[in-house]
Amino acid sequence: MYQSQAVIGITNADKDPPFEQCVWPADALHTIPDWVYTSKAVYDREIDKFFLGESWNFVALEAEIPATGDYKRGYVGATPVVIARAEDGTVSVFENRCAHRGAEFCRHNQGNAKEFVCPYHQWSYDLKGNLQGIPFKRGVDKVGGMPPSFRNEDHGLRQLRVATRNGLVFATYSDRTPPLEEYLTPEIVEQLDSTFPGKKLKVLGYYRNELPCNWKMYHENLKDPYHATLLHSFLVVFGLAVAGVKALIYADTVHGRHGFMGSRKTKEKYASVSDDNKSQMRSFHDHLKLRDERFLDFVEEFDSPWSAIMMTIWPNMIVQRELNTLGVRQIIPNGPNSMIMQWTMFGYEDDTPEMTRHRLRQGNLMGPGGFLGVEDNEALKFVQEGMRRSTTDTNVIQLDAGQTGTTRGFISESCIRSMYAYYREVMGIPVAEATA
Ligand code: FES
Ligand code: FE2
Repeated sequence: MYQSQAVIGITNADKDPPFEQCVWPADALHTIPDWVYTSKAVYDREIDKFFLGESWNFVALEAEIPATGDYKRGYVGATPVVIARAEDGTVSVFENRCAHRGAEFCRHNQGNAKEFVCPYHQWSYDLKGNLQGIPFKRGVDKVGGMPPSFRNEDHGLRQLRVATRNGLVFATYSDRTPPLEEYLTPEIVEQLDSTFPGKKLKVLGYYRNELPCNWKMYHENLKDPYHATLLHSFLVVFGLAVAGVKALIYADTVHGRHGFMGSRKTKEKYASVSDDNKSQMRSFHDHLKLRDERFLDFVEEFDSPWSAIMMTIWPNMIVQRELNTLGVRQIIPNGPNSMIMQWTMFGYEDDTPEMTRHRLRQGNLMGPGGFLGVEDNEALKFVQEGMRRSTTDTNVIQLDAGQTGTTRGFISESCIRSMYAYYREVMGIPVAEATA
């Protein structure tokens, strides 16, 4: 049943217009047209403007490549890169594309190497991506080979600018991207530092899943406190995010593109919700109890007022700290209708075995099948399907109307609006004139 519906679909040219036809509806602040999520032309422009443009893209934790020669494969936007630690201790990021004929030469997700050798014709590169050797460069018996003018220095792998902060590695294609801390803004840096205070990190594991939705929906989901109290039974029943708890939904004040949702769980293990609020929340169920109540323990270990903070760092990073479970998520865009989510769960190197156990136990909240993760994944899939196959074409974002940016209330779409104000400007998308 489901299959046949998915296959039939509909073709609706309005959902995939060329960029020149993309004009935002007149009430730009409170509407989002569907083509923002479904147009290939819009997607291509996003890749150029954001991921390959003046942005710092999160690519790795330093803890993943602690020793000389350690490397991992990663992505900047949809472009495959390699992140490697060289002999001098610095981290380099370069494209995973051989300078000869374009092979994606690095085939292992992680490892340790003295050099990178392309499997096709064995050109070799050092740990910073410089071309070292070309077999038969001078030909055989003076027949063939590269011209005398060919200089290895001119044919290294394409290298990106790199910035690191407290164990996080970022890369950018642009010379014009401002220094990392300026790009992030001071308030975002402060919140980032509560999870990454400079302590050495320990990777606990990975998840990786495809989500059949547009990459921006994931940003919106974490700037959308409204759904948190409605979709996520777990958050509500166990008092992690109930309408009315102490919370801050923050958007950076420079561009409105980065942000965080910070909240403080209730003292009690189980939330007490007023009858009035209860009647609004279909996902609230009285009398649900945990078999293992250690699951909700919160060990105070952060210099922060928040017991949970979910950060969105434009364009591709989510930082997740929910109680004592810690993770970073990297968004890898995959065409307008799909994205890959790469989750890295971690703790600190000086954690006791009990603390590691606790983090792993609590980690069941997250990941593609997590108590919270699974619901977002499903909801976002439904949204993309609804948009692609319908004939109506506008989304309504009127909660807390007129406001953009930071808010304290859960029933608000204010931070989604600030993100799209920034987005429209960088994308150069015109807004329709209001008709009287
Ligand atoms: Fe890599 Fe030829 S494609 S060496
Ligand atoms: Fe969610």
